[in-house]
Amino acid sequence: MPPTRILGIETSCDETSAAVLSGATDVRCNLVSSQIDLHRRYGGVVPEIASRAHIERIQPIIAEALSMADVAPADLSAIAVTDGPGLIGSLMVGVMAAKTLAWSWDLPLVAVDHIEAHATSAALACPDPPWPAVALVVSGGHTSLYLVRSFLEIDLLGETIDDAAGEAFDKVAAILELGYPGGPLIDKLAERGDPRAIDFPRTWLGRESLDFSYSGLKTAVLYHVYGAGRKYGTVAHLSPQQVADIAASFQVALVDVLVRKTTLAARLCAVSNVVVGGGVAANSALRRELAIACDSQGLKLHLTPMKYCTDNAAMIAALGLQRLRGGRIADLSLEPRAGLLRTRRRP
Ligand code: KG4
Ligand code: ZN
Repeated sequence: MPPTRILGIETSCDETSAAVLSGATDVRCNLVSSQIDLHRRYGGVVPEIASRAHIERIQPIIAEALSMADVAPADLSAIAVTDGPGLIGSLMVGVMAAKTLAWSWDLPLVAVDHIEAHATSAALACPDPPWPAVALVVSGGHTSLYLVRSFLEIDLLGETIDDAAGEAFDKVAAILELGYPGGPLIDKLAERGDPRAIDFPRTWLGRESLDFSYSGLKTAVLYHVYGAGRKYGTVAHLSPQQVADIAASFQVALVDVLVRKTTLAARLCAVSNVVVGGGVAANSALRRELAIACDSQGLKLHLTPMKYCTDNAAMIAALGLQRLRGGRIADLSLEPRAGLLRTRRRP
């Protein structure tokens, strides 16, 4: 029997992406068209600009992905698309494209949750799925811990009650006048800084809490830079070394909480696998510290390959294929949803 071939489409935020998978882990093509250059001057994603750019790019990128994968529509078994959560105008473009193609090519349509796709993206690099596992999803919009029992059984264990980790990276980078998006810039700058220079606060929210809070850390950086109670100013009074020290100290505080809560979740759920996905999973300090912590606690860490950490359609196709196998087919009444799907569970 030929392997199941699936087209994945992702447009939830500011990346237009199309991918073709042949079987669970064989990524034949994964094209990502980033809109970072369009949004940079505004310091964040402008929803209206994002949806217009998706409209311009979606058709060419799908055609290009099929051509690069050397796959014709008749070779496909299904089309998987992100139906949420995300920017509603952006999601609408991907969902409309997927519904149109599923109808005209007479293919099953599969709806994939963007965060669940991040939570299972590490499996793209695993010959055998690493479930059950605790999954840390750290992106621009989400910071959550999940218990993944199988590709189709994913329960929320905890999440941020205010800022997401990526959002904190981007805002602190803005405070330090580093540019956008801030995560990769802080990651790079922190290499030259002293992580012990400033003792920024860690918010634990209770001894066994699996929720996160990053607004206090962000405010601590703000006041450290401009002075308590002040919100605006410049960093002109800081030396390049002081800016690097702030970046490194902020990063270590943020990563410390992520690592400790992830290993705590694994202990509370009595699982031995840990997976990590989402844009912030590309952070070098997080990858290093998680590896050290998991190693010392006998946990097996499965890091999502860098190219599948930030938004991409390969992870959508991969989870879509599993949902197709599980009979979770959508129909042409599928509508995008801006909000998160939640089944919360206490370990
Ligand atoms: O998953 P993603 O591409 O989009 C969302 O679904 O949100 O994540 C984007 C986020 C941004 O906040 C970006 O600053 C952050 O991931 N990011 C990083 C790194 N690379 C991307 N944060 C820290 N270190 C990095 N190396
Ligand atoms: Zn994402």
